[in-house]
Amino acid sequence: MATAISFLTTRPAWKALEAHYKELQKVQLRSLFANDPQRGTSMTAEAAGVFLDYSKNRITGDTLRLLLQLAEECGLRARIDGMFRGEKINVTENRSVLHVALRAPKGASILLDGVDVVPQVHAVLDKMADFCNRLRSGTWKGHTGKRIRNIVNIGIGGSDLGPVMAYEALKQYSDRTMTFRFVSNIDGTDFVEAVRDLEPSETLFIVSSKTFTTLETMTNAHSARQWLLAGLGGDAKTVAKHFVAVSTNAPEVTKFGIDVANMFEFWDWVGGRYSMDSAIGLSTMLAVGPEHFRAMLSGFHEMDEHFRTAPFARNLPVLMGLLAVWNSNFFGAETVAVLPYEQYLKRFPAYLQQLTMESNGKRVTLDGTAVDYQTGPVYWGEPGTNGQHSFYQLIHQGTKLVPCDFIAFSETLNPLGRHHDLLMANVFAQTEALAFGRSAEQVRAEGAAEWLVPHRLFEGNRPSNTILLRRLNPEALGKLVALYEHSVFTQGVIWQINSFDQWGVELGKVLAQRIASELESGSEAKFGHDSSTNNLIRRYRTSKGSR
Ligand code: F6P
Repeated sequence: MATAISFLTTRPAWKALEAHYKELQKVQLRSLFANDPQRGTSMTAEAAGVFLDYSKNRITGDTLRLLLQLAEECGLRARIDGMFRGEKINVTENRSVLHVALRAPKGASILLDGVDVVPQVHAVLDKMADFCNRLRSGTWKGHTGKRIRNIVNIGIGGSDLGPVMAYEALKQYSDRTMTFRFVSNIDGTDFVEAVRDLEPSETLFIVSSKTFTTLETMTNAHSARQWLLAGLGGDAKTVAKHFVAVSTNAPEVTKFGIDVANMFEFWDWVGGRYSMDSAIGLSTMLAVGPEHFRAMLSGFHEMDEHFRTAPFARNLPVLMGLLAVWNSNFFGAETVAVLPYEQYLKRFPAYLQQLTMESNGKRVTLDGTAVDYQTGPVYWGEPGTNGQHSFYQLIHQGTKLVPCDFIAFSETLNPLGRHHDLLMANVFAQTEALAFGRSAEQVRAEGAAEWLVPHRLFEGNRPSNTILLRRLNPEALGKLVALYEHSVFTQGVIWQINSFDQWGVELGKVLAQRIASELESGSEAKFGHDSSTNNLIRRYRTSKGSR
């Protein structure tokens, strides 16, 4: 593998940012705010109903100017245009990256190798809508004639995290007479617990897998088939009424026994982690209905258009991406905490983990050169206010710099006494406390004993973004997800990496297949791994044998 000084770190804007960082590293947010009373209103941007306050980052106008210059030098505009034009920007898989086509309105046109993909997208959406209407109205019945009341999505990674997150996020809009479960883990417990109280005759499985070869999903799908057959008298014909598939792989779907008429298609130009708005969102559409699903797509599209057309200085995903680069590469922040103050977004951090880390957890540039700078930070989080009573201690007073994204909505979906005002008070209080802290003088003035002062002071100067939307609805969810998708892409462009492949998941998969056969075979053959792995395999086999 080639190693060389990267282009990135020799770019004029990068060099200028390095020098600028040296001037800024000791500067306190307290003084930045004191010196500019307009900062809290000027360092904000708003588009598509999403308000971003980035004033509590350790930046000045110069920082922004240099970051924007860096984006220009890295050719961000051309890369955005290339993505939207269907260029094969996923170079290691020779694929286009067209999740934006999934939410293009009818009548729009996006050409891929000369073929307009938008009509295909809408044909699948129409097929999904038709199926959802039939199932939700009870026209589609199970094998015994009973109405389907339970939906179990079987998938993993992008074929699970998006659907679960969206189901939880849009629960308010869902049909509460139906039950939705999500099975992903190859741990049998996941499947067993998901179906233990379900009636097979009223249950539909959606096998969601882009490749239809993923070990976890196919193992769960086969167990589901057995469970169904066992519950419905063993008649293989039952599968037709109780299984549908979402995949790009029609031959494998047929091999499994699902009629391709009941397969909802998507395409290799949709990455797994960018697929919740494709047919992979079938469970979402079943839960909230086609209209709400289309509203979510229009939210995505609004943010796509903003990303594609807005000047970078006012472009929300670009600003967020550049600030992430600033915090990560210059301040050395290794993680980003995502803190939704909205219970319905409880799975949003988990969803973002795949989106961000599978995309930007890369150590070589597009041409295979090892990077000499940090790439994708670790994303993690929990909904507020729960996190406050758990890990916020470290964010406020620990030794690590953890930039935070606070996400909140001015209206709640569940008005209840003072709850929402108190929730929002916590959002604003946390961002204020992180930025400005509490000085030793303030702690003393509050009457603290001298020996307690160092324990009770808050240094502050901890960066955060605040993202405010009006109300969590399908449109808002689409906008929020697209905001992060494009911020991830922006970061990847600056780092010159391929945000759309995921070779890093392959090695473990291959080894697991080999070890699985060693665990299951009765032979005493030498395993040929390292001494630790050999020993662990032997130990497991012995304990399994003695059961
Ligand atoms: O973990 C790797 C991965 O390929 C993800 O990118 C993807 O979302 C997941 O596996 C599931 O893949 P599939 O939809 O093909 O089953």
